[in-house]
Amino acid sequence: MKSMRHDPDHKMHRDLAQYGEMTTLHLGSKTWILLNSQHVVNEIIAKKGSLTNGRSPMPVANGIVSRNGRSLLLPPKGWTEKRRVMHSLLSGTALRQYAAWQELESTQLLAEYLFQPELWYRHHYRYANSVVHRIVLGERLVKTGKGLADLQGVVTHFIGSIGSSMIDWFPELDSLPKFFHLWSAHWEKLAQWNYDVYRSWWVPVREQINAGIAPPSFVRDVLLHDDTKFTGDDQEAMYVAMQIIEAGSDTTREALNIFAMAALCHPDLYQKAREEVDRVCAADQDSLSLPVMTDMEKMPYICATIKEVLRWRPIFPFTPDHVLTSDMEFEGYHFPAGVGFVINGIAVCEECENPDIFKPERWLDGHETDAAHGLWQFGGGRRICVGYRLAQRGLFLNIARLVMCYDYAAAGPYSSYRLNHHSTNEPFPVKVTVRSEEHAKIIKEDATRNGTLETR
Ligand code: HEM
Repeated sequence: MKSMRHDPDHKMHRDLAQYGEMTTLHLGSKTWILLNSQHVVNEIIAKKGSLTNGRSPMPVANGIVSRNGRSLLLPPKGWTEKRRVMHSLLSGTALRQYAAWQELESTQLLAEYLFQPELWYRHHYRYANSVVHRIVLGERLVKTGKGLADLQGVVTHFIGSIGSSMIDWFPELDSLPKFFHLWSAHWEKLAQWNYDVYRSWWVPVREQINAGIAPPSFVRDVLLHDDTKFTGDDQEAMYVAMQIIEAGSDTTREALNIFAMAALCHPDLYQKAREEVDRVCAADQDSLSLPVMTDMEKMPYICATIKEVLRWRPIFPFTPDHVLTSDMEFEGYHFPAGVGFVINGIAVCEECENPDIFKPERWLDGHETDAAHGLWQFGGGRRICVGYRLAQRGLFLNIARLVMCYDYAAAGPYSSYRLNHHSTNEPFPVKVTVRSEEHAKIIKEDATRNGTLETR
């Protein structure tokens, strides 16, 4: 597992795919079937989704560190109710309501680009975190400094805990008498810190809701609302809410960074994307306007760019295991219950002509606005990322606006294979410049109208 983490060029993912569409791996006492082609992913993860929605036991990352509260790692028993409440994030009504907040946070991102262009990557993080914070908890992000760093730290340590402990590879060891659980103390400490950080975000919001003074939010209007109320206890509700924030932040930030890298590498395609946005939002020089969510259908090239960003430099080289809940026959193979199917994101994303070339055109197939159509970076089946529509819409807004208003140039040597997602400093050297005075003007006007300039 260690080698999986230290393989920035994903050599291992490609090597494992050379045996065919599926590769069997024995890791500890678990059996993984790597799915290396779109065909088998579609058949097994999507079409047989009712059989492949389990998760393998992870006594450390799930049991101790997450206190069995992060739905992402839960087997169906604990997951179903959490998924039910989260499902509303995919509904049209919620998406329309959240669009206004995405537009507002995106306006702030544009203004921040204007005033602090050298911190472009931090603006990506602030946007990603703030928008999902607003959706889930109801308020614009006011925490800065330590509060935000702690939450980021919780995510990093949680991700780091996945696969780190031998116990998660040999989960049966967890049934040894507690006396032998020498590993517990270390992870318990992390779990307690995680819990305390979550509480510092959760308790004030819950109190506001109880007092009837909370603004609209997923927590107020779905999770704790009488009509849709989550049946778990307060601690479980907290993990549901906070998990959404952590799952939605880093992924969106990384996608925006990949977009910036694509802009450096492909000025010609950037120009093509800009022409599309200009056709809709700058028909004549005197009436420039920023793209809004309802422009999406008119901008298939931008939508195709989003899918290509996620395909070109996959954020998830492996997706979490989808464990088979009963025996299954598939194309002459017999799979016993308990095996875990894992999407080999690298192999699947490279299953196309000239995979190393960034080419949005490959997605111009009438399904541009559906980010999960033909793309498996959001996982699939019943476990598919519950935020994938929100993510796609947020990326649309920001990418269309950035393409319209800013130019990207390299400010030093870089490699498109080194995204440095985990760096807290500038991940690669970029010089961002506003396109024209006119563009600067509409950004400032929009930010002033939305009141986002004062909150900087
Ligand atoms: C580019 C952006 C994103 C990518 C690539 C991504 C990818 C993923 C993947 C691969 C999974 C696991 C799916 C599976 O097991 O098949 C997942 C789960 C999840 N994602 Fe995302 N995600 C993104 C954005 C978001 C956003 C914006 C949110 C929240 C608003 C979010 C919330 C979640 C949650 C809560 C889960 C767990 C769902 C469950 O347990 O059923 N994600 N995501």
